[in-house]
Amino acid sequence: MQFDIFTLFPRIFDGFLSESVLKNALEAGKIDVRLHNMRDWADDKHATMDDRPFGGGPGMVLKVDRVVPCVEDVRSRSHEPGRLILLSPQGQTFHQRLAESLAEEKRILLLCGRYEGFDERITDILQPEEISIGDYILNGGETAAMVILETVMRLLPGVLGDEDSNRYDSFSAGNRQLDCAQYTRPREYRGLAVPEVLLNGNHREIAAWRAADSEQRTAKKRPDLCGKNCADGLTGETVCYNSPNVH
Ligand SMILES: C[S@@+](CC[C@H](N)C(=O)[O-])C[C@H]1O[C@@H](n2cnc3c(N)ncnc32)[C@H](O)[C@@H]1O
Repeated sequence: MQFDIFTLFPRIFDGFLSESVLKNALEAGKIDVRLHNMRDWADDKHATMDDRPFGGGPGMVLKVDRVVPCVEDVRSRSHEPGRLILLSPQGQTFHQRLAESLAEEKRILLLCGRYEGFDERITDILQPEEISIGDYILNGGETAAMVILETVMRLLPGVLGDEDSNRYDSFSAGNRQLDCAQYTRPREYRGLAVPEVLLNGNHREIAAWRAADSEQRTAKKRPDLCGKNCADGLTGETVCYNSPNVH
């Protein structure tokens, strides 16, 4: 999958893209991330990307005559137009379901704002989807783009070491509940023992324990999620581990 990221600060992504799962996915060619410095499309001496808002007020606004040509140019370089997303606190809130839908795409373009945001005509012309990562204000869209990139890429086939990992995560396909509790060695620490059932090797019992634990912790920690499976058109069944690898 190809990600095109439009930003005024491409170096923000340096560390992010050079570690761990993202680094491996890039090296394995599972994803292709292209950073576009929008300033490269500014043709004046100072590479101006922003200007004062009409009507007055604080801050600066990203210019329509810089951002639109940049996105149109990059978009037209491939026959795959992709899904254009503008990061904005005013967009629909990002969630796992949306990530799953984005993971079906061949190309995603992420447009990162800065300052007071975008001239409204940018959305009028480009008609992007607007996505927010939550009801709070960031300095820029870069961290929001990272959240989306990371959430989507880990859903792609072959990206995670264990193909099953995604299936059992909280909120994931077929499982709108929270993931169950996890334990690893030592079996006991400061008087706290691992639940006996996880050590007995009986896969059926382990799966049942995990399903019950998932249900209980969802009710306790996120009661708002209870009953959401049905609203999503899913079966309402909890997906649980059936091949434990911790003994
Ligand atoms: C300081 S914010 C501008 C906020 C804008 N004045 C408003 O109140 O809607 C600058 C940029 O950060 C990004 N941003 C800020 N908060 C965000 C959020 N919660 N989700 C996604 N992007 C966000 C957007 O790209 C935005 O254009």
